Amino acid sequence: MSIVETVKGATQAAIQGTMAKLVPLAPDRWIPGGVPDPLIRQQHGVIGTSVSRLDGPLKVRGAARFAAEFPLERMVYAALAYATIPRGRIATLETGIAEAAPGVVAVMTHKNAPRMNPPAAFGSSPTAAGPADLPIMQDDRVHWNGEPIAVVLAETQEQADHAKSLIVASYAAEPSTTSFAAARAAGPQPGVFMGQSLLNEIGDAEAMLAAAPHKVDNIYRTPPHNHNAIEPHAATIAWDGDQLIIHDASQMVTAEAQTIADVFDLKTDQVRVTSPYVGGGFGGKGLWDHQILGAAAAKLVGRPVRVVLSREGVYRVVGGRTLTEQRVAIGAEADGHFRALLHTGVVAMTPHNNMPEPFIVGTRAGYASDSLKLSVETVTMNMLANTFMRAPGESVGTFALESAIDELAVELGMDPIELRICNEPEKDPTSGLAFSSRHIVEAWRTGAERFNWSERSAAPGGCCEGEWLVGMGCATGTYPYYRMPGAAARITLSRDGHAKVDVAAHEMGMGTATTTAMVAADRLGLPLDRVSVDYGSSIIPGAIMAGGSQQTAAIGAAVIAAHYALVAQLLKLAGNDSPLAGLSPDEVGSEDGGLAKLDDPARRESYASILERAQRESVVVTEKASQPLELMHWSMHSHSALFCEVRVNEITGETRVSRFLGSFDCGRILNPKTARSQFRGGIIMGLGMALMEETLFDERNGRIMNPSLAEYHVPVHMDTPEIDVTWTDIADPHTPMGAHGVGEIGITGVAAAVANAIYNATGKRVRDLPITLDKLLS
Ligand code: MOS
Repeated sequence: MSIVETVKGATQAAIQGTMAKLVPLAPDRWIPGGVPDPLIRQQHGVIGTSVSRLDGPLKVRGAARFAAEFPLERMVYAALAYATIPRGRIATLETGIAEAAPGVVAVMTHKNAPRMNPPAAFGSSPTAAGPADLPIMQDDRVHWNGEPIAVVLAETQEQADHAKSLIVASYAAEPSTTSFAAARAAGPQPGVFMGQSLLNEIGDAEAMLAAAPHKVDNIYRTPPHNHNAIEPHAATIAWDGDQLIIHDASQMVTAEAQTIADVFDLKTDQVRVTSPYVGGGFGGKGLWDHQILGAAAAKLVGRPVRVVLSREGVYRVVGGRTLTEQRVAIGAEADGHFRALLHTGVVAMTPHNNMPEPFIVGTRAGYASDSLKLSVETVTMNMLANTFMRAPGESVGTFALESAIDELAVELGMDPIELRICNEPEKDPTSGLAFSSRHIVEAWRTGAERFNWSERSAAPGGCCEGEWLVGMGCATGTYPYYRMPGAAARITLSRDGHAKVDVAAHEMGMGTATTTAMVAADRLGLPLDRVSVDYGSSIIPGAIMAGGSQQTAAIGAAVIAAHYALVAQLLKLAGNDSPLAGLSPDEVGSEDGGLAKLDDPARRESYASILERAQRESVVVTEKASQPLELMHWSMHSHSALFCEVRVNEITGETRVSRFLGSFDCGRILNPKTARSQFRGGIIMGLGMALMEETLFDERNGRIMNPSLAEYHVPVHMDTPEIDVTWTDIADPHTPMGAHGVGEIGITGVAAAVANAIYNATGKRVRDLPITLDKLLS
């Protein structure tokens, strides 16, 4: 780092430090969202109504073009060969037979790959998107069992796959750490997540735990999980001179383009990443080795390359959620009041990436307690870099925390819902900030009634139907509200009353494009069919990612800012002959295809009339979203109250989930139809986490042993009961559109709700996921 960069960095850190101190104390009105937006109302335009996905017909017809479907002239197909040791060197690599196989154009290895810089690892800077800071196919070193060692390029995919099987490698292995116990023995290090320490301490929690009249203190374990989106990772890649185009399936086109530009010593505008449709992301559709190898291979052979990972390839190249070992201890009074809450533990990661599984983040704002101790420590293993996977942290953290609360309720003889409600915090227990919007108690009350919770037998094993033991359990889910900086929107308003909105967003199947069109139509006072949205390309202004359940809020803030700029521009164009003459943008809003004075809508003029008089066909504005200072000023979270009914077979140990209800508190729901699907999808993923999902990692050699959907189980329709979903629909007055994210909250708490229901059915407490039948038979 140069001196200038160091000084710049230090200055920035000082400003951020000052901001972190001042923003919480600043008056609300200085903060974005501090003065509630007048458009946050339950009924306005199409917001709050169920709108089918605008891209639905294209998808049903097969006309939506995914990453592996871009046809390019003279394209070759890639197949990757993977290392079979966890650490060491490639001793020999025989590619001759593969090169001579039918259809093979070339075999790329570290010996002939173009020279490239290692990508900057995700989290190391705002624009870094790399999986790890490792060089990619630049030398003979092997860093994990499954690292790509060769890329075969052939005229067809089948020819490439066949030739790949003819490559023979031998290795000089070096000492490696592939067992969690060995990694632990080397000594855990303090965890750091996105630059923040994963340690919170308030009071002397250990001492207060020891002194508490009632307590639970247990260890919970969750296994590694792998990403299994329906669409395996794929990219279609071409060079045009020194311009690089990558048709990808990505959650972060802009950061990806910037990182790849650095890898190939290009300027950012020489790389264009598109990602119009993504067949499921969940945190796994970032930048991995395959896009970089594909671009390198395309450069090597001077032809476009399509690289599609096989399902096994996804397990070898795309990281998943790492394993966790968590201790949760709660000390309480007889009335349920928490005296001490401890949530600590260890996770595994690699020496080359930045992603501890931050399982305490949901606990930070979860419950009031006289003392708190929260910490995540990390150990390192020689394995594929782990990464984000739907609600990283909260998914597994809520399993431990919410199981422990259920155990405490049993110990106290209290209803688990009442125990949770009695420890509702008035303000954020760790930051001390006021909550922007927290209606978890309403969610519990509504849910309990809807689920008939009162019919539950408090004593475990109290209910059976034949050989099936029936039980009910509950848990709280939680996920923060986020809004990442960097979003921008461009609005092109035409005289014919059509608006085009461009945002650097991503549609991964969750309905983003539809919701964005709804938000834009709402702001612009236009019918939905007069608004079109373009997204999914790195050349669109702004930089956001589809992650942290924050994309809709980030886009919304940008659309709101761009709309404001548009109003200002239109007022200028309207001039002195308009009924709006002399008004400022603060006094004017959009409705019915034009501008109107907010408190006197009779003073109005249509867009068409303004543009016609100004002799303009269209007006274009680009504006950035406000800085997300609200995140420092309030404690902002989504919540859920989850209810589960299971049937456990007394003879076989088989668990069937028979009913599930999610009662959510996630601000205003913009599109009930797509939001309901997000909640249900998250819950189904949570059922998989509870009962099935487990990456089998061979601790002798670091090989993933079940890299296929035949051996890595996820819920199918037969495993999925009717899932009831409801929500408070109470707008958060301090967020764009009053909304919170809905992408990740659904999975959180689910595994605990299932485990707690299984305890209620059987009296057996399983603290190791997944809860497979062997654990219930022993
Ligand atoms: Mo999500 S795991 O932030 O894509």
